[in-house]
Amino acid sequence: MPEATALSFKAVASGLQGALKPPGDKSISHRAAIFSLLADGVSEIEGFLQAEDTLATLAACEQLGAGVVRDNNKLKISGVGLNGLLRPANGLLDMGNSGTAMRLFAGVLSAQSFAATLSGDASLNTRPMSRVVKPLQQMGAKIQSNNGSPPLQISPSPGLQAIEYQSPVASAQVKSCLLLAAICAGVTASLTEPLLSRDHSERMLRDQGAKLKSQGSTVKLLPTTSLQPLNMQVPADISSAAFAVVASLIVPGSNITIANVSNNPTRARLLDILRQMGAEIEITAISEQAGEPVADLRVRSSKLHGVDVPIDWVPGMIDEFPILMVAAAVASGVTRVRGAAELRVKESDRIAVMSKGLRQLGVRVDEYADGFDVYGDADFAFRGGEVDGHGDHRCAMSLLVCGLRSKQRVCVLGTEMIATSYPDFIADMRALGADLDE
Ligand code: S3P
Repeated sequence: MPEATALSFKAVASGLQGALKPPGDKSISHRAAIFSLLADGVSEIEGFLQAEDTLATLAACEQLGAGVVRDNNKLKISGVGLNGLLRPANGLLDMGNSGTAMRLFAGVLSAQSFAATLSGDASLNTRPMSRVVKPLQQMGAKIQSNNGSPPLQISPSPGLQAIEYQSPVASAQVKSCLLLAAICAGVTASLTEPLLSRDHSERMLRDQGAKLKSQGSTVKLLPTTSLQPLNMQVPADISSAAFAVVASLIVPGSNITIANVSNNPTRARLLDILRQMGAEIEITAISEQAGEPVADLRVRSSKLHGVDVPIDWVPGMIDEFPILMVAAAVASGVTRVRGAAELRVKESDRIAVMSKGLRQLGVRVDEYADGFDVYGDADFAFRGGEVDGHGDHRCAMSLLVCGLRSKQRVCVLGTEMIATSYPDFIADMRALGADLDE
């Protein structure tokens, strides 16, 4: 367990300024490592996220036989092909805090001829895994869980069958898990989700030569016998950039730029909703990088007003609700979110953790089973206090941002978890002019 830390930012008098360089995208980095492991040949990945979650994935890939050479900002990963995975030493893979790693590897390992166990930290070991265990069992996988949570003990099965699956949740982790199981087993898969979740797996697999048909929120994988290696630059993570974006909007006098950030429409809905709230965000230099849309952003402090987030936008900004709640607190009127029950089963119950933290800082928040109403005020400054990220990196970073717009000290407990996704968060915020209140 990392040592517990508490931090607070000082209010920024002159605004945040400069160019933010956020780290590589977390979702894309996990996939780049796993899909390289499964490829025939050497993949070259630039800008891989060096954070606890994705390093756990990379370590697991090495344990399963991938050769990994680190060359400055570039990773060279020698794949073992779809049929060449090795049994990890003592059969155990540690996924740390990462739900993505756990669910994607569950798909890969279900199709192997060796037994393996997937486990995680205290938080991950309480998270729901039935959403992947059930459809994998439907394919013929042999998996035992701890009442639907990790550890997952996966035994070899005689061979997985093709699947047609109607997922009850919009989840890229479920989708990617089943695509990986089908690819490793050499069978077809068709999955429909209630709303389209992030499509990084589909884009990357197509880049590797797999045949997929997407229509609306249905994806069909045709039989795939091999994957070509990847050669890609990982875009900057919009989910990490989101904290500086909102910080700049709510700290008067701010003006920042962010280059080459993921602008994938299944991921970047936060930008749309903030612009609806009145945010001055310019999106320029829109292009594609290794099949992924990217863009440059300029963000200036703005007067915000509350909005209703359309339910069908929820999956496209599922990781950004903690920081949206911070923006909503300084937006005049009410910001309403519904259809976001998934927030209750993330690294923490994000509705509960953020509602509690924001109330302690003087914000009125009404909680619902599947969302919240935040009552904002454009002239609001957060009250000081001690708040807790409850083991959740994104809640910790969101609550820290509140300190930039407070006359008192906003001390956030549990900031050690920030290292799971964004180890340089404090350094990057300092480079924009924020400073810690030590
Ligand atoms: C992720 C998908 C999302 C997201 C998570 C990363 C991924 O989860 O919350 O942080 O990389 O596939 P769900 O797909 O379960 O919504």
